[in-house]
Amino acid sequence: MDYSREELLHFVKPHLKQSRFEHTIRVADTAIILADRFGADVKKTEIAAILHDYAKHKPKELLRKWIETDRRLSKDLLHFHHELWHGPVGALMLEKEVGLNDHSVQSAIACHTSGKVNMSLLDKVVFLADYIEPGRNFEGVEDVRDLAKERLDSACLLALRNTMQFLISKEQTVYPDTLHAYNQLVNG
Ligand SMILES: [Fe+2]
Ligand SMILES: [Fe+2]
Repeated sequence: MDYSREELLHFVKPHLKQSRFEHTIRVADTAIILADRFGADVKKTEIAAILHDYAKHKPKELLRKWIETDRRLSKDLLHFHHELWHGPVGALMLEKEVGLNDHSVQSAIACHTSGKVNMSLLDKVVFLADYIEPGRNFEGVEDVRDLAKERLDSACLLALRNTMQFLISKEQTVYPDTLHAYNQLVNG
């Protein structure tokens, strides 16, 4: 997949609301800074970041159908909040619709909301960029931004911890991949 930034943005734009498109640009800019800082592949980072929310506004029923029918998708997802679905499903939709077949890029798109065990450098950069892009203003984000200036794993760990604490405080379920990512990073 050898598309320019402009081509990728042009491709995703019709699939996103304006605010989500602007978020996407901020995630891409943030992710490139992080990739540069921590030594991830900048081009792959840019592709994954621009495409990460591709399926965000697809109908819930369409996402559900994908999970039910594509054997590569964990059926577990159906028991958790549908907000988690657009990453894993989007990564596979992009394969079908634009021939995205880079597994490292697909992985970063798939786990950008939940995290997962054994996250690659690229996975972490996209996950963190989605969490700290300048438009985010939830509680605790500033501490994650500070950590992201020097320590990628520590920043991801705090983002995961904040996410789990938020979900628990709302009496919501925590997707196991998030807990697995947390457990692995907390053990250093
Ligand atoms: Fe997302
Ligand atoms: Fe996002």
